[in-house]
Amino acid sequence: MLFMCHQMAMKKEAQDKLKAEELRKAQAATEVPIIWILGGPGCGKGTQCAKIVEKYGFTHLSSGDLLRNEVASGSDKGRELQAIMSSGQLVPNEHVLSLLNDAIAREKGSSKGFLIDGYPREKNQGIAFEQRIAPADLALYFECSEDTMLKRIMARANAAAVKRADDNEETIRARLQTFNYNTTAILDQYVNITVKINAERDVDDIFLEVVQAIDCILQKKAKAAAQC
Ligand code: AP5
Repeated sequence: MLFMCHQMAMKKEAQDKLKAEELRKAQAATEVPIIWILGGPGCGKGTQCAKIVEKYGFTHLSSGDLLRNEVASGSDKGRELQAIMSSGQLVPNEHVLSLLNDAIAREKGSSKGFLIDGYPREKNQGIAFEQRIAPADLALYFECSEDTMLKRIMARANAAAVKRADDNEETIRARLQTFNYNTTAILDQYVNITVKINAERDVDDIFLEVVQAIDCILQKKAKAAAQC
């Protein structure tokens, strides 16, 4: 019985994956690019997103910023979110996905492309995004050692006029743990669309590889559109 349940679950997962691949192909010709920006805390996701926005004019949606906006609103929900974020855990996906969905819907008509920074943070977030919003064209994964990420965030915190509530050593270690626990499953699930980039280099050297990956996707989409 247990074996049959496992087999059915595996079959469903394979079917979902196939469906997402078909949707990805269909979308390639029509919609603007959707790019997931992945990597641990402090690997440089936000830094590279700023450079991508400057070059390509894409819409940058950071899940962390969207959540912090909600916290800043002072609502009861915001206080709940703050407690989770300060512990280094993940906020329930229902909430994050709904914030992203609303933001994408607002910009859809005018956007040249979407950078979804800090999402997905677990495999099921990716599946839910592709089912509810749209398939992703590319996932950029910034590889960085824990030591470097910790040092970068501590340096950011020391230099900041207003320090983020989760930028202290204890919470950073918890954020790293959450990241390590979830990431292999995401990379396995999205191996076909993921480009891994060594993020322990100069910002501009990293960006050269980012540009290569994005240009490749833009070319693919232009080619698919021309075939329609
Ligand atoms: P979030 O705000 O997304 O934080 P994070 O992922 O921990 O990443 P950071 O924003 O701290 O760092 P970054 O990678 O953008 O690096 P940056 O460019 O700033 O998430 C916060 C929390 O919200 C989560 O812990 C969770 O609770 C919740 N949350 C968010 N998304 C969620 C989701 N999908 N589901 C559930 N919960 C979610 O760079 C860091 C520093 O390094 C900067 O000072 C920068 O100048 C420097 N730097 C960058 N690149 C380089 C380089 N190449 N060389 C030297 N220094 C560099």
